[in-house]
Amino acid sequence: MPATISTCSINCWSRWLLATALLVWPGMMYAQDKRSEKEQIIQPAPLDPKTPISYEKDVEPILVNKCNFCHSGNVKRGKLDLSSYEALMRGGDRGKAVIPGKSADSLLIQLSAKLVQPYMPPKKEEPLSPKELAILKLWIDQGAKPPTGARPLAKVALKAPSVTPVLGVAISPEKSIVVASRGNQLHVFDVKTGKYLRSFNDEQGTHLPGAAHVSLVESLAFSPDGKLLASGSYQEVKLWEAASGKLLATTTGFGERVVCLAFSPDGKWLAAGGGAPTQEGELKLLEVPSGKGVRDLKDNIHSDTVFGVAFSPDSKLVVSCGADKFVKTFEVESGKFQKAFEGHTHHVMGVGFTGDGKLIASGGADQAVKIWDYEKGEQVRTINAHGKPLSALVIVGKTSNLATCAGDQQVRLWNASNGGNIRNFTAGNDYLLSLSVSPDGTLVAAGGQEGVVRLYNGTNGALLHTLAPPGTDKPNTPEKQRRPRRNKD
Ligand code: HEC
Repeated sequence: MPATISTCSINCWSRWLLATALLVWPGMMYAQDKRSEKEQIIQPAPLDPKTPISYEKDVEPILVNKCNFCHSGNVKRGKLDLSSYEALMRGGDRGKAVIPGKSADSLLIQLSAKLVQPYMPPKKEEPLSPKELAILKLWIDQGAKPPTGARPLAKVALKAPSVTPVLGVAISPEKSIVVASRGNQLHVFDVKTGKYLRSFNDEQGTHLPGAAHVSLVESLAFSPDGKLLASGSYQEVKLWEAASGKLLATTTGFGERVVCLAFSPDGKWLAAGGGAPTQEGELKLLEVPSGKGVRDLKDNIHSDTVFGVAFSPDSKLVVSCGADKFVKTFEVESGKFQKAFEGHTHHVMGVGFTGDGKLIASGGADQAVKIWDYEKGEQVRTINAHGKPLSALVIVGKTSNLATCAGDQQVRLWNASNGGNIRNFTAGNDYLLSLSVSPDGTLVAAGGQEGVVRLYNGTNGALLHTLAPPGTDKPNTPEKQRRPRRNKD
């Protein structure tokens, strides 16, 4: 019967085509020898097509290790986000990167096998191994199935050694240790000797050696009793036992980076702020020590990333500041918005209540510190504090003194009541990003772009130690100190 014959012939033909497609790796059609060593096409390792491939167990670890530091969090090259299955399937600038069932047509495979430009990862980075390529290929050919089970966390990764700036620094209240965050690591130093002691890590949770979080750690805070350390990163906050480095709790559910943290003076709350740039600020109150998110402060919240947060001395109010140029206060008990203070002309980076609870000090990228009368809701004074954008502001214990640091390499101490400049600390050639002051004001630590933390005597301004990342040859001993420049105001 003609009909049967023709069906058969189509079937045979398509089977032949399929077999050829499986046999001939498209790479063989390119002239390998014309390419430099780094541009060689990667041949996938042999892999039984029946091997079950799981997204979370097999695919994701490859992406986290080799791709996500350019394709997740704030860095999404080619507008391609590889931090979650959903984002990966959405694709990037060039459209879909994965076509389920068709690995040879999937951009992800074409680029990572170096069949098509731009090769992924780019030249300098470690390419996929033949085995990794085979796993990604087979996962796609098996239908690019989604992960199974509950998966709240997007996997954002970065290359720890390439990102060294100190984004977070915290001196323990009893002044025994200083913790600095660099990349996704938390380094602990001895205050007396300036020596690196250990790292806090969560290798189980991150699958990354030495890492505390998967992504950048952008905020740190010690609880008032010194027993807990909180660290904030992309979409999560972790609580650690300060003495042992044991991970106590991980709180997820943040929409974006957590860039500021503060414990309430009564030790009951941890405030965590951040949020997506230009979209919405995020500010949450977590219960201590469970780390459970209890209050999401949404009432009239900042319209852009929250960069700074602090509590009033009686723990009843939260004050916050952010990229929307506002300083705002909220009631802890009700979570209700209370007051807004407007006057900064750029991002407001740090904020705090003075020890008597009467004044609020805020510092911003407009290089200014502003002092506000909380009760009256008015601006009291502006201090032209720095020659470059201010990056952090800390109130010194229960006093009305405050410390600031900025892009002009300076740490400065001020009196909020009269606007006076008490002391300046000069920090080498470093654009400063993070700051901590012991509650009694005798120790000041500042970290910045170079990746070192400088620890000062807060009372006389002497540089005590330069805390370098472990494994570097930078000495942990005082470097030659420059004479602090006088503030010209
Ligand atoms: C060092 C940074 C870096 C790493 C690591 C990296 N990429 Fe990329 N990726 C880029 C850049 C930059 C682009 C945009 C290139 C362009 O548009 O010309 C890009 C684009 C892409 C695109 C195209 C997106 C689009 O729609 O335009 C894909 C697919 C891709 N990368 C996959 C990967 C995979 C898979 C890995 C890991 C095996 C990886 N990348 C690792 C930097 C990186």
